Amino acid sequence: QKGGYKHFMLKEIFEQPKVVTDCLAGRVDWAREEVTLPELAALPVPKRLHIVACGTSLHAGMWGKHLLESWAKVPVSVEIASEFRYRDILLDPEDMVLVISQSGETADTLAGLRIAREKGVKVAGLCNVVGSSIAREADAVIYTQAGPEISVASTKAMCSQMVLLTLLALYWGRRKATLADDVRHEALSALRKLPGQLESALPGMRDEAQQLARTYSKARSFFYLGRGHCFPLALEGALKLKEISYIHAEGYASGEMKHGPIALIDPEFPTFALALADDLFPKVKSNIEEVQARRGKVIALTNPGVEVRVDNPWVVPAAWGPLAAFIALPALQLFSYEAADYLGKDVDQPRNLAKSVTVE
Ligand code: F6R
Repeated sequence: QKGGYKHFMLKEIFEQPKVVTDCLAGRVDWAREEVTLPELAALPVPKRLHIVACGTSLHAGMWGKHLLESWAKVPVSVEIASEFRYRDILLDPEDMVLVISQSGETADTLAGLRIAREKGVKVAGLCNVVGSSIAREADAVIYTQAGPEISVASTKAMCSQMVLLTLLALYWGRRKATLADDVRHEALSALRKLPGQLESALPGMRDEAQQLARTYSKARSFFYLGRGHCFPLALEGALKLKEISYIHAEGYASGEMKHGPIALIDPEFPTFALALADDLFPKVKSNIEEVQARRGKVIALTNPGVEVRVDNPWVVPAAWGPLAAFIALPALQLFSYEAADYLGKDVDQPRNLAKSVTVE
């Protein structure tokens, strides 16, 4: 069942090239450079979008916000489902709620869906499990088609959610005519290349993750830093590390470090920085230097040609614009996988956690 892999988590990380291919299948007309999401054809492009989710699915939503706002010009708020359901939320009939859930059974997310529907707002669901409660109750459901995810720690599901959010931003961007042709062209070409890029990069990324995990798994705490669309990835990297290796980890927007957290930095408290080749890199670089000035050790996940002087630069292939996240994500997943495995933890069944959180 594990297809020769030691754990389901590793198998699922390595399935990501296929996940991207499957998510794109039938949804992109490559010749006309057009995205079709028939599931949403009957619903108008919303005035505002409220994304409601938990955990890793929430991080996917936070990442998708950047693309939806920039390409489709739809204002997006991203809400933790357990907060959304108890807040006096302001919903306009022209808004839409998008619930994101791999299992489709998460109690808080399902409650968010029901509240939105009671208030007369359309709800779309981004789900992996066919026929799940969220899939049944949403006005429209988009399936992520990632295949069963067995490992408690979610990996390939996030990748599939990110592909669908990218497609959604392209789809609404086209419908609203807010998306420049060259951006659509670049985005689609980058998406098309992704499965091949991932396929060839993953084995080397695993070797690098293994080396780094050996060096760093004695750390008791970790910071993960990122800016812009890499901030949600920092949150996700920290979540993955803590849930399977039990190493304390916190994800921060790089610029927030100096507002308190930097006080924790010392030679025993390493930082994993997302330092990809993008416009925000100079800012990230100066945040890394601030950490180094406090003698903190740094792993920097970066792209070829980027000059970053740290203890452990980790160079992964570049991808266009925010799609670089699809290559950074498995690096984060592999690092936590290798750390947990090196520490002898039960990778697929971490303590205190269940795959599907059906109670509040
Ligand atoms: C983390 C993880 C959880 C889930 C969260 C939401 O690896 O698996 O944080 O992402 O419980 O689950 P779904 O997506 O099924 O609603």
